[in-house]
Amino acid sequence: MTGSAPDFAHRWVPPAPGEERTLLLLHGTGGNEDDLLPLGPAIAPGAGQLSPRGRVLERGMPRFFRRLAEGVFDEADVVRRAGELADFVAHAAGRYGFDPTRVTAVGFSNGANIAAALLLLRPETLAAAALFRAMVPLRPAQLPVLRGRRVLISEGRTDPIVAAAEAESLASMLRGAGAEVTLAWQDAGHGLVGADVDAARAWLGTAAR
Ligand code: MLT
Repeated sequence: MTGSAPDFAHRWVPPAPGEERTLLLLHGTGGNEDDLLPLGPAIAPGAGQLSPRGRVLERGMPRFFRRLAEGVFDEADVVRRAGELADFVAHAAGRYGFDPTRVTAVGFSNGANIAAALLLLRPETLAAAALFRAMVPLRPAQLPVLRGRRVLISEGRTDPIVAAAEAESLASMLRGAGAEVTLAWQDAGHGLVGADVDAARAWLGTAAR
């Protein structure tokens, strides 16, 4: 990648002809840019896919921001990394020729958390977001205006990492900012299940194409 935007190792899958949506695929801790590529077509067939690898390493495992312990995030790093990712997406839109106003994040776990941080800190980056097993990444001093933005939060009822109260808190924060939030609960733990994909497909199917 040229210019001043931060360089992320990434995959770009161009859209099918006539398809204007782009999915921003954001993997979980220890994943990489290949992880969620099968998920994109299952959720939004034909959409372009931009899939970066997180630039933070935790004992060799890629992540999108630093954490101090399980569920305890380094908020200064969240702010810094969300900025880097937003700049990367804006730059990639120019490089690959996709519409920067038609980007939907699809994030799992740590990827869902950085997507939530993008909504809270750099909302211009995302038109919508599907957040699987998401937590509150930080509490900004001032909420952004998220009116018109749609968010799916899909959580596992028996997830040992994301407590129900945490999910409710994220949903109410995003609703407080004006986003249209759907909070879905799956019979699942922290791992993704087919019902998550079904929920995202149904949710995206009702979104403007
Ligand atoms: C993870 O393992 O990725 C956590 O549950 C979420 C995070 O650290 O962002």
